[in-house]
Amino acid sequence: MPRKLAAGNWKMNGTSAELDQARALMAACPTAGVDILICPPATLLSRLSDLVRGSTIATGGQDCHANAMGAHTGDLAAEMLADAGAGYVILGHSERRADHNETDADVQAKVKAALNAGLIAIVCVGETEAQRDAGQTLAVIGTQLAGSLPNGMTDDRLVVAYEPVWAIGTGKVPTLPQIGEVHDFMRAQLLARFGNTANAMRLLYGGSVKSSNAAEIFAVPNVDGALVGGASLKAADFKGIIDALEAA
Ligand code: 13P
Repeated sequence: MPRKLAAGNWKMNGTSAELDQARALMAACPTAGVDILICPPATLLSRLSDLVRGSTIATGGQDCHANAMGAHTGDLAAEMLADAGAGYVILGHSERRADHNETDADVQAKVKAALNAGLIAIVCVGETEAQRDAGQTLAVIGTQLAGSLPNGMTDDRLVVAYEPVWAIGTGKVPTLPQIGEVHDFMRAQLLARFGNTANAMRLLYGGSVKSSNAAEIFAVPNVDGALVGGASLKAADFKGIIDALEAA
């Protein structure tokens, strides 16, 4: 069984004051039976990493550049995230794919950069509402997985997050059978490509996860945790999701 992961994506939210939420979460989780991750905005990464060092909470970035260094104003190299204390980086989030035109090939290049820097890559995939309505969900996910992942991925370096675009920040959640269908499909695709190591890769669900719906989502086979946006911003809300994952 993969070790479960509760990952918070703070997106473009949080200034110094929000470090108090991480302090509160740390105090609420002195021990944890699951991995806990917060991916803050890059401006907080170093301070958050220093704050939670030695605790149950790990930190990650929300994106990285494909190159190791150079003339890329405003971008961050994976090595810089690692140097700031990150253990993970989210790559190919639908907001990056939409706002910055990131393609599967772009995401794959970033995954390689993340691995070179020693980071664990959390690669996001997910269909739009129009694609689901057209019956294209599994085809879209299959194409994104095939194109976004380099060869040779192993369970200790890759997490995959299924985030239906239409479920992000909307309060809409797929049915449990819909989540299960995609997660079963992703596991099968990863097994076919990477072999047995894929049995231990963490497959996260993301999109309007809250403490009130977390338990039923975590009971779906092949759901090994969650990638949480809005409900990760408040320690009490995120703690409820962590508790549900521990109990699953
Ligand atoms: P919400 O939990 O706010 O729907 O966001 C999900 C997400 O995009 C996490 O990466």
